[in-house]
Amino acid sequence: MEDQVYAMPRLGDKAPAFEASTTQGKINFPADYAGKWVILFSHPADFTPVCTSEFMTFGKMQKEFEDLNCQLVGLSIDGLYSHIAWLRTIQEKIEYKGMKNIEVKFPLIDDITMNVANKYGMVQPGESSTSAVRAVFFIDPAGIIRTILYYPLALGRNFEEIKRVLIGLQTADNFNVALPADWQPGDDVIVPTAGSCGAAKDRMEGKEGEMHCYDWFFCTKKLSKAEVESKLGK
Ligand code: BEZ
Repeated sequence: MEDQVYAMPRLGDKAPAFEASTTQGKINFPADYAGKWVILFSHPADFTPVCTSEFMTFGKMQKEFEDLNCQLVGLSIDGLYSHIAWLRTIQEKIEYKGMKNIEVKFPLIDDITMNVANKYGMVQPGESSTSAVRAVFFIDPAGIIRTILYYPLALGRNFEEIKRVLIGLQTADNFNVALPADWQPGDDVIVPTAGSCGAAKDRMEGKEGEMHCYDWFFCTKKLSKAEVESKLGK
């Protein structure tokens, strides 16, 4: 039988819809999350070390993501009983880098059929045909995919970068700006060129504030950390 070919979701696409069983009950995705940001992420397998270190980190940071109006949803090609046993082991037995008694409260999808993993292009056969790669989908409150990250099986994700991406997307949306390399809240932001949507109007109305231009196509302005924080999670 020929392998079935699945379309990979792209940036700007609507998040593919599905219903699934999770460690927190059934979910109807993305409808249940309307009005919130969601990070939908996959891991290769329960009871594996890199995934355990990642889950402990995400579990520890869950409140930080919720404070940004963002819900976490995990997935692997394992069944519900495996998920439950693994999360219990993490909470009861694993102490790692100062993290212990970590209770993972966000849903972990049972995707033993690979239905969701295939819809989201999480199974990448060159890397593994029996498990999902480490994918991270950032989905906005309107259900649109805004950023996708893929990591291989052998490399754990950087969770500060995942949080920075979320803050960056919310900042770009709220302030109509772009963000330069390695941007962190409080750093200068890029003013879109005059021809781009919204920017011309802002310039004509004198709303741009003081700019520093490196050339005609590259202008930045200040945006304080306090201003950014006042809009995050909104
Ligand atoms: C891990 O999470 O440790 C892992 C999972 C699959 C392959 C390699 C490593």
